[in-house]
Amino acid sequence: MNSARRLIESVFSKPSVFKNREALYPEYVPTVLPHREEQIKQLAEIFKSLIISPGSISQRAMLVGGVGTGKTVTARAFGRELRALAKGRGLDLRYIHVNCHRDRTLFEVITEIARQLGAPVPFRGLSAQEIFVALLNYMERENVYALVTLDEFDYLINIAGNDAVYFLVRIYDEYPEMVKRVSYIFIARDLLALRKLDPATESYILKHVVRFNPYTSSELFDILSARRSEAFYEGTVPDEVLRYIAEYEGIDKGGGGNARAALETLLLAGEAADHDGLGRVTVEHVRRALGIVNPDIVVVNDLLVY
Ligand SMILES: Nc1ncnc2c1ncn2[C@@H]1O[C@H](COP(=O)(O)OP(=O)(O)OP(=O)(O)O)[C@@H](O)[C@H]1O
Ligand SMILES: [Mg+2]
Repeated sequence: MNSARRLIESVFSKPSVFKNREALYPEYVPTVLPHREEQIKQLAEIFKSLIISPGSISQRAMLVGGVGTGKTVTARAFGRELRALAKGRGLDLRYIHVNCHRDRTLFEVITEIARQLGAPVPFRGLSAQEIFVALLNYMERENVYALVTLDEFDYLINIAGNDAVYFLVRIYDEYPEMVKRVSYIFIARDLLALRKLDPATESYILKHVVRFNPYTSSELFDILSARRSEAFYEGTVPDEVLRYIAEYEGIDKGGGGNARAALETLLLAGEAADHDGLGRVTVEHVRRALGIVNPDIVVVNDLLVY
């Protein structure tokens, strides 16, 4: 066996603290969301009618809160469960998640909704408005309902403007006789961007506001702890590691209350532990990881070598 292969194999066979590293990736949607029970209950109240009397009303909710407070993951988890509940009742209710940072024109948002619905809508030569009406007709034919999340909604407001938002969210004002097949979740970090809308549209969107506060250190500890059991082998991450991260990030300890940063720190600390081949994550790995997450705090560290 040549030495290059031996080197590669020695790296591959190195024991890892991770059972399932993906459980720490930002796009992962866990089954439990500690400390977001209230928000999920509020969403259930708001969108109850989609299950109980489908088609009767187009509902909407505005989720607001700072960076990493769980808005996106809560919407996705809620959508996933609502879809499953609807399915159990023979209802084809799809959950559609559009990131308006990526799709920020009316045309892009509408074609993305069509794509996720798998709707064979003819795009060429049609305006965004015409495509949307074709999409609603398709949903009528196929008896499909949709809960559409417009994440990072402020981008759509800023780029597409008031008339586009008005068209999209108040479509049933235009076609009152239609079955109400589309409902919305809007997500933004604050409500300032909504001031650019005309007051009627703004208050339409603000009918139900669900707030997401920054996490305290004890809340972050619970979030990290739930994720630890999904991502790591048992016994590889002691409580003190989670506590250190939670206290660093917790809003009550002067941190940002940001769960994304906390989970990213845990992932990097795990990677540092694997790099050391220690089989266990220590507070020292966390300190090094924090040097990466916040480069201005710890200047250089040996994690950057590999
Ligand atoms: N209560 C929670 N339980 C478990 N994981 C959570 C919770 N809240 C947030 N997370 C995780 O933290 C990360 C950030 O959450 P999310 O992306 O939902 O934040 P956000 O509020 O949408 O932030 P931003 O405004 O930056 O988009 C994700 O990996 C998410 O899975
Ligand atoms: Mg988000």
